[in-house]
Amino acid sequence: MRTVQIGIIGGGTVGGGVYQAILRNGSLMASRLGIKLEVGRVVVRNLRKPRAVAIPKSLLTTDWKKVVADPSIDLVVELMGGTSTAREVVLAALKAGKPVITANKALLSEHGEELFAAAAKAGVNLYYEASVAGGIPIIKVLREGLIGNRITRLYGIVNGTCNYILSRMKREQADYAAVLADAQKMGYAETPPDLDVDGHDAAHKTGILASLAHGFWVQPKQVHTEGIRNLTQQDIQFAEKLGYTIKLLGIVKASPSGLRPPASGIQVSVYPALVPNTHVLASVNDVFNAILVRGDVVGDTLYYGRGAGQDATASAVLSDLADAALDLKCGSHHRVPSFVRHEHNGHVLPIDDVVSRYYLRLTVEDRPGVMAKVTSVLGKAKIGISSVIQPEGHQGATVPLILMIHDAPNRTMQKAIARIAKLSVVKSAPVMIRVESFE
Ligand code: NAP
Ligand code: HSE
Repeated sequence: MRTVQIGIIGGGTVGGGVYQAILRNGSLMASRLGIKLEVGRVVVRNLRKPRAVAIPKSLLTTDWKKVVADPSIDLVVELMGGTSTAREVVLAALKAGKPVITANKALLSEHGEELFAAAAKAGVNLYYEASVAGGIPIIKVLREGLIGNRITRLYGIVNGTCNYILSRMKREQADYAAVLADAQKMGYAETPPDLDVDGHDAAHKTGILASLAHGFWVQPKQVHTEGIRNLTQQDIQFAEKLGYTIKLLGIVKASPSGLRPPASGIQVSVYPALVPNTHVLASVNDVFNAILVRGDVVGDTLYYGRGAGQDATASAVLSDLADAALDLKCGSHHRVPSFVRHEHNGHVLPIDDVVSRYYLRLTVEDRPGVMAKVTSVLGKAKIGISSVIQPEGHQGATVPLILMIHDAPNRTMQKAIARIAKLSVVKSAPVMIRVESFE
């Protein structure tokens, strides 16, 4: 039986998980693939660091260049994170003619085009199943399973850390900082966790999914990104009373309604959104991710699983290891290319042009005439209100006023909010959260 020697660059949460998973299921994979997977070297930064997963000292090294250049290493798995050295590692391995597997969505998001071009030039493949949604094989779904479809909608809960935080804040009224610390302890969060809570990790993943679905590379700066850092318990609870759950959503929509985009304009955004409790994504909790993909032939499809953590991510890397090993054995790396550009006029719509519904929470003076002032601003902007709620039982001189707003372009809504914020009866910055209707 042929043996494939693997060089793993990074022996942390994911690297340790992959090492452990190969020990556990290596013989099962060998029987399924007819190929033996063997870890040749594991590169770390600090040889003396205590490791949750024990990797034999004989395998550990700090010299990634030596591992990449080692002729006995057949393929390289980049699990170190970051975008600088990781880029060097991937480019060096591809240049050496070695297939590369990466879980690094930040790297792909920033340098995807360059890395895919380098892989094509070297005649090898770059595999990245673990870069989006942990254990869910969503890359394979878009690249292979749904290849015969135009993807009209994609909605994803793609950051496990944020979903874990939001779920516990809603369920237990837990404190944001304490739950984030728990997510870090469990190995879900990025380093630094700002990448998660400020929405950047979800933006990297949503950009990768949008690129695959629409055939042009979406740059990270094109993805409108808002995180969960400023969400309050108050908004989570008001949303619940209104029949919604707040989720951080990655959204890819072709031709949003109410716009006249050029044919291939797409919305690619990440923001917290009110999801109706009746929608399946509202019940995706804790570290779980889920992605709803709508194809023009298949209709709606849904993918669900653990979105972060050692074992879920290791499972996705194992799937890439199987593909890479089979491609090496069969010389078939061109059969399923890592990324194919097919939409040459594709472009991302600015958020200003995107139309959505809104939840607007104002803190206003508790006196007659306030509502008229607020609705007058909205009316002048031709923005329709679908409902107004002023909860009873408040204390002090101000009251919360919640307005649910009909479809309006973001540009119009932002201008109206700026005017409302200047009204003397409005006592603190308005809070706006988009409402997703999944149409
Ligand atoms: P991690 O626990 O911090 O592990 C990083 C590993 O890389 C460590 O073993 C570290 O060595 C090593 N390393 C970092 N810089 C190095 C350098 N310059 N030279 C040699 N070794 C170096 O990170 P992780 O959570 O496993 O994440 C790894 C990658 O997977 C990231 O791209 C991340 O975004 C991605 N990912 C993570 C998850 C998850 O749930 N954690 C899920 C999907 C994708 P030391 O151990 O000596 O410090
Ligand atoms: N930090 C990421 C998350 C890891 O929480 O989803 C998985 O990509």
